[in-house]
Amino acid sequence: MNDINDPTLFDYTSRQLRNLCDEAGFPSSDSAPVDMLRELLGPGGDRRLSEGPLWPSDVADDATPVEFSVALDDTGENAVRILGEVIAEQPGMAANMAAARRFLDSTAERLGIPTERFDAVQDLFLPEDPQGKFSFWYSLIFRPNATPKLKVYFNPDVRGEHRGRELVAEGFRRLGMEDAYDAASEHSVQRGEKDRFTFFAVDLDDSPTSRVKLYISHYSATAEEAVRASQAVDGLDAESIRDFCRVLGGDTVTFGGRPLVSSYSFVEADPKRPGNYSLYLPIRDYVAHDAEARERVRAFLGARGSDPAGLDRAIAAVTDRPLDEGRGLLAHVSLRLGQFGTGTTIYLSSEGYEALPPRVDASAASAAVGA
Ligand code: TRP
Repeated sequence: MNDINDPTLFDYTSRQLRNLCDEAGFPSSDSAPVDMLRELLGPGGDRRLSEGPLWPSDVADDATPVEFSVALDDTGENAVRILGEVIAEQPGMAANMAAARRFLDSTAERLGIPTERFDAVQDLFLPEDPQGKFSFWYSLIFRPNATPKLKVYFNPDVRGEHRGRELVAEGFRRLGMEDAYDAASEHSVQRGEKDRFTFFAVDLDDSPTSRVKLYISHYSATAEEAVRASQAVDGLDAESIRDFCRVLGGDTVTFGGRPLVSSYSFVEADPKRPGNYSLYLPIRDYVAHDAEARERVRAFLGARGSDPAGLDRAIAAVTDRPLDEGRGLLAHVSLRLGQFGTGTTIYLSSEGYEALPPRVDASAASAAVGA
């Protein structure tokens, strides 16, 4: 039975995805994105939203196991992506990992996705008793008229926090990039426990631009720490990093809420040095509500010469709630810089289960005055 006031998780999120794809110019006959979402959500997709999440996924604040993003390349090309966690019907850390593994088997086979890189590191990152917040996540990447692509995010803490560095270093070695660990750590891991490996990610495709990425969270950092991290990549413009933090962070000096995150991209042709740097800013922790977040993202896009209308189309695709009535629809914003392409990516929460209330504490209230 179909109850429009209490849709299933699949109905709700697939409608958002379809809208995002329509806005990004995908042909309406392209069912691949929605078909993949169905498979990713599995049996949990059939639960009604009123039943609540099957598992407290850390993908999004309200435990929805998917998060959307729209990549606005400076070339004008767009991609729609889903970050997602596969949840088993009887969920648990090991059961979710096994279900996620099965998703890869069926998807890789059907779409002809090469799994060599996954196979090369799986005994490191897929232990029998995974620890931490998740075992591994997927990014499903959709572009108009193209076969979907897959990226895997492994969890460096999956064998316990104390083994993260060892796992990341060995992961690079297995992929023939033994110098990458030092190249990435040198500029970005200098503050002890305040700089932590968050994800070790691999593109599952065999093109020359296929990347291995390392993500580092910088707790209580300023823009200058991000600038320093970015210097691992030759020739990056420090001013654009400062602008990004200033425009999106408002009057934030130290990002003391959710951390700024750096990522480095390596490709096989140049395994010693990262070719790209990205900086992720969890904007939801630094605004009073989404209307303020939208203003800042618009200002940032405008200053970079990107059309801010793309942002509003993406927002309208996922929600019609008043933006000042919640916080976290705009979860993160990222800036990509380097030889493999530059651009801005907007991360949009589904808010399937709930929207966080606007912030009412004094610091955000004063930040909101100027908005
Ligand atoms: N929800 C988690 C967080 O905010 C994980 C996550 C989802 C994330 N999307 C992200 C982390 C984008 C960095 C960038 O930390």
